[in-house]
Amino acid sequence: MTRVLPPTEAAITEAATLIRAGELVAFPTETVYGLGANAFDRAAVDRIFVAKGRPTTDPLIVHVSDRAMLHRVAATVSPLAEKLITAFWPGALTLILPRAEAIPANVSAGLPTVAVRMPAHPVASALIIAAGMPIAAPSANRFAHTSPTTAAHVYDDLSGRIALILDGGATPIGVESTILDLSGDRPRLLRPGGMSLEALCQIVPDIEIISRFVAPGSESMPAPGMLLRHYAPRAALYLFEGEDKLVRTAIKSESSRRISTGEQVGLLIADEDRAAVADSGAMIQAIGSLTDLESAARNLFAGLRALDESGVSVILARNWPPAGLGLAIRDRLLRAAEGKITHVAD
Ligand code: TXA
Ligand code: MG
Repeated sequence: MTRVLPPTEAAITEAATLIRAGELVAFPTETVYGLGANAFDRAAVDRIFVAKGRPTTDPLIVHVSDRAMLHRVAATVSPLAEKLITAFWPGALTLILPRAEAIPANVSAGLPTVAVRMPAHPVASALIIAAGMPIAAPSANRFAHTSPTTAAHVYDDLSGRIALILDGGATPIGVESTILDLSGDRPRLLRPGGMSLEALCQIVPDIEIISRFVAPGSESMPAPGMLLRHYAPRAALYLFEGEDKLVRTAIKSESSRRISTGEQVGLLIADEDRAAVADSGAMIQAIGSLTDLESAARNLFAGLRALDESGVSVILARNWPPAGLGLAIRDRLLRAAEGKITHVAD
């Protein structure tokens, strides 16, 4: 039985007790909901992989509430890491640092490094403080599924598999944290996310951007967790890339073509696209304006889940500008599309 509780003081105390006892608790962060376990408890961490159906080769992020706790998780914190932490924590930035011995190897899939972040969400930080220990937490979804941005999303994926969900409402950012690898010679962006690359570049100008698109079965995985198939809705997702007007026309005609063959079609579009496809007969999720990428990021995963729930077999999605949170939106859609990308041109 999985209980869902509002994050009262009593509920947070109870959640902390469960965490200390080796149980799993889902909780809101400012990015997406996390599925937490005591990061020092190897058996509890194992339970995360089982509950999610996640391969043990995909490492977890450890969440801390302050710097003292960070030093129990990371073996060393470089001056550059200190600078980034001062600038961006608490917040949607995960750093890859050398792993402290106290953190069991299964947290990091055996790697000598560990991913750490200090979440800004008041419920997340209250939970870590009440537990008195760092909390290992991946996104609280079934493996490879869309990340959860509400407690209902978590419940849909994990009910019966975890003890408790703290319901803190919809998560304010809506896409996962940005991951920056500081373990090598040069800082590497492993995942664009809720902290914009532009902001990071103000402090670290020479970030190496590595390709995140590795096909399943590929031998050269540049970093763990890079499987192309990820963030996937049930429906097949086709991504349309190109100039706004052309993308709109292409989505409209592809949607009509598929509907005429009896398919149930969903559209994941921008507010500005709505008028062009209003009478198409497709299910429409307009997730925000092209000029407000924060709102599009916030609504992205809920939009994908809503289309899945409406029973469509195919989703036609537009691509978004590659600035600010647009980079994270593009990354999630590219991976959800698993290579089904149409470049529209005149
Ligand atoms: O916003 C977020 O980051 C959310 C919330 C809950 O904090 N968490 C999240 O976790 O997105 P998850 O498990 O869905 O993604 C963790 C990813 C892994 O798939 C992997 O790509 C990367 O973080 N990662 C973790 N540890 C790593 C390590 N030691 N080296 C390289 N990458 C690592
Ligand atoms: Mg995830």
